[in-house]
Amino acid sequence: MDMKILGIETSCDETAAAVVQDGTEILSNVVVSQIDIFAEYGGVIPEVAARSHLEAMMPVIRKALADAECTWDDINAIAVTHAPGLLGSLLIGTLTARTLAILHDKPLYAVHHLKSHVYANWLTGGHAPQFPVLALVVSGGHTQILYMPAHNKFEIVGTTHDDAVGECFDKVAKILGLPYPGGPAIAKAALNGDAHKYKLPHPKVAGLDFSFSGLKTAVLRAVQKELGLPISHPSYDLKNHLTASQVADFAASFQKTAIEILCEKLTAATEQYPDVQSVVIAGGVSANRALRDALPEAYFPTPALSGDNGAMVAAAAYYEIVSGVEPTDPYALNIYPRISVENTGTGTI
Ligand SMILES: Nc1ncnc2c1ncn2[C@@H]1O[C@H](COP(=O)(O)OP(=O)(O)OP(=O)(O)O)[C@@H](O)[C@H]1O
Ligand SMILES: [Mg+2]
Repeated sequence: MDMKILGIETSCDETAAAVVQDGTEILSNVVVSQIDIFAEYGGVIPEVAARSHLEAMMPVIRKALADAECTWDDINAIAVTHAPGLLGSLLIGTLTARTLAILHDKPLYAVHHLKSHVYANWLTGGHAPQFPVLALVVSGGHTQILYMPAHNKFEIVGTTHDDAVGECFDKVAKILGLPYPGGPAIAKAALNGDAHKYKLPHPKVAGLDFSFSGLKTAVLRAVQKELGLPISHPSYDLKNHLTASQVADFAASFQKTAIEILCEKLTAATEQYPDVQSVVIAGGVSANRALRDALPEAYFPTPALSGDNGAMVAAAAYYEIVSGVEPTDPYALNIYPRISVENTGTGTI
């Protein structure tokens, strides 16, 4: 078919653009991360993120086209993340994509960010997941199990009642005095730790749903107890009392528990949907080495495609196109960013 799609992603703190051919072949993939800015603050500041996107957006798109050796004439469609995410950040991407679609007369696809994370698993080269697919989305803002009977069809069959698992990694890292983003820092610290040192509880949540806020609090209480400090002792001060080996043991024990919780629910989901042919893992936490080792049969994106990027947006748009989805009117109001779409409960994305 030879369809080249430019994918644009600005939902959080990565300014990203990529050119993908026929939903599978990455011709370019440019990601400018703002992690260095936000490491200093320990988290994302939405207004600063939006301003950084504005500065980086056009250079990133130009580099994506240049790396792919494409001109605008070669691009068949433009895809952009429109929800969910930080409102100011999404606005930069969607306004840029709308403007470029009008200027260069290209069809525009406004793509849901979680769908894009799932489609990173179709960019792994060669062997594609087989339908029906179960997708475990584990990112900074979401923890969901999706049942996917065919391309572009999703049913949310499990979701978190409170924190996302990535958010839990980030919050536990903060308690332990590890840098932002917490996921990679916990994974690194855990390498030197004893995962059996601290016993942490598994939440009792019915069905395929999750809860991660209790696990974060359990780590907090366990740290206070280990240090002989009262539960009123402020969480931000605990890091000043922990030794490197205690940090490693807490990181390893927490990571092990979080992965066990994800795997238990995934096992329950595969029992509930016995027709499933492939399991795919998606979102930033899918970069985690221990999670990959725990699920050897599952599809994972290459680590570079686990976090936010433009290639997954282009891939998701490609499968919208082959599924018969009509392009979005670049003048229409409905591609203005939305903070959340069917974020909880059963529904479709
Ligand atoms: N190796 C790792 N182990 C565990 N967690 C990780 C790892 N690498 C990244 N993460 C976590 O992944 C999250 C970021 O993922 P991602 O960029 O997909 O989230 P987001 O885009 O902010 O949220 P969403 O996709 O839900 O809108 C962070 O919480 C980060 O700590
Ligand atoms: Mg994301």
